[in-house]
Amino acid sequence: MKKNVKNNVYWIGYMDWDLQTFHGDDYTIHHGSAQNAYLIQEEKTVLMDTVWAPHQFEFVENLQSEIDLNTIDYIVVNHGENDHSGSLPALMKLIPDTPIYCTANSVKSLEGQYGKQGWNFHVVHTGDSLDIGHGKKLIFVEMTFLHWPDSMATYLTQDNILFSMDAFGQHIAVEGLFEDQANQEQIFNEAMRYYANIVAPFSPLVTKKVKEIVAMDLPIDMIAPSHGAIWRENPLKIVEAYASWANRYQEDQITVVYGTEWHGTEKLAYALAKEIHKQSPQTVVKVFNVDHTEKDDIVFEIFKSKAIAVGSPTILNGILASMAGFLYYLKSLRFKGKKAAVFGCYGWSGEGNKVLREMLEKAGFDVISDEIKSSFNPEKEEYDQIPQLVKTLLD
Ligand code: FEO
Repeated sequence: MKKNVKNNVYWIGYMDWDLQTFHGDDYTIHHGSAQNAYLIQEEKTVLMDTVWAPHQFEFVENLQSEIDLNTIDYIVVNHGENDHSGSLPALMKLIPDTPIYCTANSVKSLEGQYGKQGWNFHVVHTGDSLDIGHGKKLIFVEMTFLHWPDSMATYLTQDNILFSMDAFGQHIAVEGLFEDQANQEQIFNEAMRYYANIVAPFSPLVTKKVKEIVAMDLPIDMIAPSHGAIWRENPLKIVEAYASWANRYQEDQITVVYGTEWHGTEKLAYALAKEIHKQSPQTVVKVFNVDHTEKDDIVFEIFKSKAIAVGSPTILNGILASMAGFLYYLKSLRFKGKKAAVFGCYGWSGEGNKVLREMLEKAGFDVISDEIKSSFNPEKEEYDQIPQLVKTLLD
């Protein structure tokens, strides 16, 4: 079943209410997701993207129930990742000569995934356009590294729809197609969580691309991403949000993340949180055990934070493996402009804080020199150091 987006533009994607994880099992999904593909039926018929490989036969069947596949004049591939191109092999078996419009890097990614099948690729660059009849055109905009080197957006003139691919998307399944038909706060939060975990490493490029899109001065009535809801009510709101998220975004929040063996480091974590509340009652303080909360949820909270405190006991001359894994992930996201403090208990050698400090510095955090290092369980001496550490973190 296709659903109308606007005039002769239809949604023909896959609403995945059941999805639990994404990127294999690397990214946690809480509210399902959608792989959005679109069908444009003007004088020319255009299929824009497809859906993930596990749903390819269902996708092709659905498409066949709506149109004769041989009437598809053009396929646009905005991005080669499998969640959007995974149905191409099944589809192209049925219409092998249909022209595919995409970037040069998309050719590389599609042939890398599906082999050299002799598909009829037409490589496009920013500003290239394709006439689709009734006076309408598709204009292509390369979105290199947002988030893959092959990423592209496509703008439909007259209907003023920007098909933005992963950019501006959210992993959320919605019954209505549009953000104004759903829980807007939830959609906005999922968009930010998506940004923090997937787009953030490319923030400098986001700033540049947002300026480029604004400078093109194209009227935009809708932004139709490849995941989640379509932005229809004030669509530029999400563009402005991206500009702000790309610019060292922070709220008045401090996140405390810890791992613990025998609960000593945990005691320090909660004592730190209590002191932050005391010194700055308006500041939002959240505390997470790195072994209890999904890494992408903690990262979302860190993305919103102006500062963090990270604790681990010393174990085997280092830190807990789960914390090391988490900090490795955090480093890859390249957050900027956030302070950090370290803390932890130790029994014998006590290298934990040093390792935490080094990893956080490499992750781009401004690590303050104050730290809490407790031999076995924290005592008065360690608790007495907490107010000064919090004061430095808040300054
Ligand atoms: Fe939704 Fe980068 O794929």
